[in-house]
Amino acid sequence: MKKYIAITVIIIMVSFLAGCGDDEEKGIGPVKQVTLGSVDKALGERGRVIFEQKCVACHKIDSKLVGPPLKGVTQRRKPEWIMNMILNPEQMTKENTTAKQLFGQYLTQMTFQNVSQDDARAILEYFRTIDSN
Ligand code: HEC
Repeated sequence: MKKYIAITVIIIMVSFLAGCGDDEEKGIGPVKQVTLGSVDKALGERGRVIFEQKCVACHKIDSKLVGPPLKGVTQRRKPEWIMNMILNPEQMTKENTTAKQLFGQYLTQMTFQNVSQDDARAILEYFRTIDSN
């Protein structure tokens, strides 16, 4: 009987840890799974327009501004992480290790820019367009 309890406890612990690992890589927020195809230039162009309205106050592509340069972001982060950072930055900087470290480095809290999940997906495509060039 004791053996079964021990096994159950181990299973629960392992799945808990695996779950946390997923949150670290994919971030915390509404986006659980993104499937990527080849780069969609039209969607990326829509993303560029939103980026220029809502993000350039704090971000440049090639250099640091208030926030990090965004070139190469699709290589250093998972697509889900990028979208969750755009949609849920306050919780991300509190609970996701990578985002917390960035906050420690940049010392400014990124704020939610009132973008929809579709907008965030388009911005992700804009970053993919840049990183595929
Ligand atoms: C008020 C300034 C500000 C605005 C506006 C802002 N950000 Fe940020 N962003 C930051 C800061 C600062 C960080 C680093 C984390 C932190 O300190 O919150 C960051 C981090 C990021 C990251 C993670 C970068 C990396 O290297 O992993 C992404 C992606 C990002 N922002 C995208 C966007 C997008 C897209 C928008 C527009 C919808 C936007 N940000 C608007 C300040 C801002």
